[in-house]
Amino acid sequence: MLLALETSCDETSAAVVHRGSILSNIVSSQMDLHAAFGGVVPEIASRQHLRVVDAVIREACERASIQSSEIEAVAVTRGPGLPSALLVGVAAARGLSTRLGKPLIPVHHMEAHLYSPQLSPEPLVALVVSGGHTLLVHAPRFGEHRVMGQTVDDAAGEAFDKAAQLMGLGYPGGPVIERTAREGNPRAHDFPRPMLHSPDWNFSFSGLKTALRRTVTTLRAASPQLPDSGVADLCASFQTAVVEVLVEKTMRAAKHHRVAQVAVSGGVACNGFLRAEMEKRCRQEGIRLAVADRSLCTDNAGMIGMLAEKKMEAGFQPPAEWDIEPDWAMPSAS
Ligand code: KG4
Ligand code: ZN
Repeated sequence: MLLALETSCDETSAAVVHRGSILSNIVSSQMDLHAAFGGVVPEIASRQHLRVVDAVIREACERASIQSSEIEAVAVTRGPGLPSALLVGVAAARGLSTRLGKPLIPVHHMEAHLYSPQLSPEPLVALVVSGGHTLLVHAPRFGEHRVMGQTVDDAAGEAFDKAAQLMGLGYPGGPVIERTAREGNPRAHDFPRPMLHSPDWNFSFSGLKTALRRTVTTLRAASPQLPDSGVADLCASFQTAVVEVLVEKTMRAAKHHRVAQVAVSGGVACNGFLRAEMEKRCRQEGIRLAVADRSLCTDNAGMIGMLAEKKMEAGFQPPAEWDIEPDWAMPSAS
């Protein structure tokens, strides 16, 4: 049995994992605490992690029906993430591993997202899209992955969050934009598709956000209270622009590396429109699509534990001494 912890941002999570199965995966979300601020407030996040981390660990063990004496290893997110938030998880994990006399395995948060779908052993290109990151990754085999491209400004999830804030829809933006977009016309506004045809593999979403802001300002000048249908059209057009860029660049990267598998993960991978469009394109191209289960898309300790187990099986030896790595980058191709 392996106990995993995740506290890199605004979810306090503990999971029990055993031989490739997640026996429990408890996520205590702080979303409501940050909603009023339109984004995560680090000081509030770390205090809340401190408040609930012990109870979350206890609940993960109870749900998995295990005693702490059955834990054979402890895994924890080492980075990237908010420094004060990471510290809480690492301190709790280190305490537990010392008390039990069991190994402590540091895990890279984005690698855990990357490997969270059910992957086949063949080479792949992965799109990892969360609130903090937008990564296009090439992985010829397990553990050997290189970042091909990433966002040069806002992350995809951040773009959803900022767009929602602009339209007064609340936080987090992704789920509410997806819901609202269902009633809207995706062709109502012709928003830009930033860097769609750029020769590199990077993304940019801040120009799209500016275009949305300009449109919202113009519409509000005509009618200060936007009609529901107007907001729905804005959401549908915005979501389509983001998804089109994500899907097209991912498919192009897959062809470039001639891989037969594409993986999609991270919080934004919850988005039903992104999932459907990826499915459509992969079917057309005869590529296997591995999308993370929705319960594993947003931050959770289950994905941390699953990767820790795989790494241990592959012979990974944790360094003797290590600390949190708030800016821990993934290896890059260039
Ligand atoms: O992976 P995650 O929980 O946190 C980070 O590691 O950043 O991702 C959270 C992000 C938020 O920006 C949220 O708006 C976005 O994922 N998200 C979505 C959806 N659900 C969550 N974006 C688009 N559509 C969704 N349905
Ligand atoms: Zn994440």
